[in-house]
Order: sequence, then structure tokens, then C-alpha cells
Amino acid sequence: MRGSIAVLPGDGVGPEVVGAALTVLQEAGRRFGHTFQCTQALIGGCAIDATGDPLPRATLNLCLRSDAVLLGAVGGPQWSDPLAPVRPEQGLLAIRQALGLYANLRPVTVNAGLESASTLRPEVIRGVDLVIVRELTGGLYFGQPQERRVTPAGRQAVDTMFYTEQEIARLMRVAFQLARQRARPGLTPKVTSADKANVLATSRLWREVAHEVARDYPDVTLEDQLVDSCAMALIRRPADFDVIATENTFGDILSDEASMLAGSMGMLPSASLAGFRGAGGAIHAREAGDTHGGLYEPIHGSAPDIAGKDIANPLATILTVALMLELAFGLKDEGAAVRAAVDRVLGEGYRTPDIMQPCKLVADPSGYIFKW
Ligand code: IPM
Ligand code: MG
Repeated sequence: MRGSIAVLPGDGVGPEVVGAALTVLQEAGRRFGHTFQCTQALIGGCAIDATGDPLPRATLNLCLRSDAVLLGAVGGPQWSDPLAPVRPEQGLLAIRQALGLYANLRPVTVNAGLESASTLRPEVIRGVDLVIVRELTGGLYFGQPQERRVTPAGRQAVDTMFYTEQEIARLMRVAFQLARQRARPGLTPKVTSADKANVLATSRLWREVAHEVARDYPDVTLEDQLVDSCAMALIRRPADFDVIATENTFGDILSDEASMLAGSMGMLPSASLAGFRGAGGAIHAREAGDTHGGLYEPIHGSAPDIAGKDIANPLATILTVALMLELAFGLKDEGAAVRAAVDRVLGEGYRTPDIMQPCKLVADPSGYIFKW
């Protein structure tokens, strides 16, 4: 198979983790007989510095004609003046919108050997295997008006939470299809829809539409949870969750929270999709008229404090490559091989500092060794 990938390393640790992930991608291609044509372009702060635009037209065009996009991270202190007219994050939001990537999948599992990297007790996180399906092109991030005003009474700012029933329905369909696809033997697939229906009008519409869509998926259980209570349950009984479907801002917050189940933000991949291709995925590279194969990025940010030190955890981006192989190219065995490689590396004891436990010096006949 031949596939084309737009590679956008971005800022901070982005180039480091993307570099590691590309090595893995090329090796997977070599072993399984695929060619991935990777072309790099600018996004975020580095794009602002070079062109004044966080998403230059050339980058967008490259992404539009590629089968998939692999992105590192955007942002950094040098671009974070709240009054700056352009910000790196605008590049990320613009590309999500331009490619129509309305469904953001954030799977959370606990890798064997990392149980004690989490701040939660091992028995609480045992068996965690959930996916957050976050709506990505609506809600507070895109609703208008979104502005700052100076009035005689002082400064004001407004953001708008806006959703159409179509936006909610298509997101819920992705959640139900995904729940069906990942059904585990003996367990009824479940979608937990997290909203704030006791306060917000958008959430009441969300809940109504979620139940309408659920009628097409009688084999999947739908449960509603208020998002604040969901945030609590994620820490109390995380293994009870299967698929969590929620709107943009709630999903942003819940997914950072959920990353702590896996021990570190440095472990979690994500896929942003313009539609769900079902179990088989697309076996061949994208054809004209097909929805875009999606954008793949780790959930962590640009971590400027550790950038350039070669200590950033590349596993989130490597696991992101596994998701891309599966979802953009329908290459299930290849994705599984990448995941197995990650497990093997962790099994052998290799660690970046974010997932390292305190180690102790142990006397050994041949000298001193570090033991976890
Ligand atoms: C994420 C990030 C982004 C978001 C930022 C960088 C704009 O936090 O992908 O979760 O809020 O969506
Ligand atoms: Mg976030």
C-alpha cells in the first residue's frame, strides 16, 4: 500500500516526539511492505514566526491532499501573550475545522508495568479500557460571538456554546459505532453521554438527540451522566467506563483527567476524524470524494519546559501512529505490531522521567544497579 502523510511537528517537544514516531512508522512500512510518503510543513508558533500565520495556506493544502496528518504539538511561552493578535492554537483549531474533523477519539488504557506510575491506587485503575469521543468542531471553541469588549462599565468577554442537532447526532453515531466495534466478549457495549443538562440548553438538546440516535443502536446501552459527576466517577470507578461521548470543552477537560489513569499525558494518543470508517477502515489510500483520513496527534501539549532535552516521552506519538495505521489506512496488524513494540519496550524497563518511579540503588555482585 502507498499512503501520503502530512507531517506537522509544530513547537516545543513536537519535533522530537514526531521524529521518534516517524522512525517507527517507516520501520512498520518496511516490515509490512508499505510506502508512506511523508511531507513536512509548518503549524503553530513556528509557522507564525516564518509566515505570520499559524496555519499557512501551503500547510492546509498539503493536509487536504494527504491521506492523513500526523501532528506533534503547538504553542509556547513566546507566543502566549493573551493580547497577541495571532496564537499558535488558532492553527490547530483552524485545521480541525478546515478538515471537518468533528470526532476526536482519545483511548485510555493502562499499560502493564505502568500501574504504579499513576497517582491512583493500582486496584482502582486495573482493567481501565475506555475511549473518550470528544466533539471537536463546535461548542465554546467555535460559537459566535467570541470576543472581548471594552465598555464604560469595564472590560467584558463572551464565548458562546452553540450546537445544532446534526452536530450532536453525527458525534453520537461515531460513539455508538465505536462502542459496537470494540464490544468485549460477555459485556454489553456502553456509551456514557456526559452533559450539563441541569443547567445548559445545549446539554438538554444534546441529551435529547443522544437518545434519538440510541434507537438505532439497541445493542448498545446509553447512560447519561452530568459532566461534574462523570469527572468524579472517572477517578472513583474508571474501569466501569466504555465509551464516553461529550461536547468539545467537557471532552478537553475529561481527557486530561483521564490521562492520569494511564500514568502520564505522555502515554495518550488521539485521532481526529471526519467520519468513522467502521471495523475494516479504508484499506487503500483515500479516493476523491472520500472523507479525509484524519489528523493524529498525542493529547499532550508542546511542553516547552522540557523541549530540546531529549527527555520527552515519545510513546503517545508512537501510539498515535498505531491509531493512524488502523483508522486512516485500515492496517490493523501493523497498528497491533506498533502497540506490541511499545509494550515490549516498557516490559524491558525503559522509561522517560514522566513514567519513572523512584528507583533504588541495589548492591549487585558486579557493582551497583538501579532497581525499580
Ligand atoms: C487538546 C488541546 C487543545 C484543545 C489546545 C492546544 C487548543 O488542549 O487538543 O486537548 O483545547 O483542544
Ligand atoms: Mg486539551
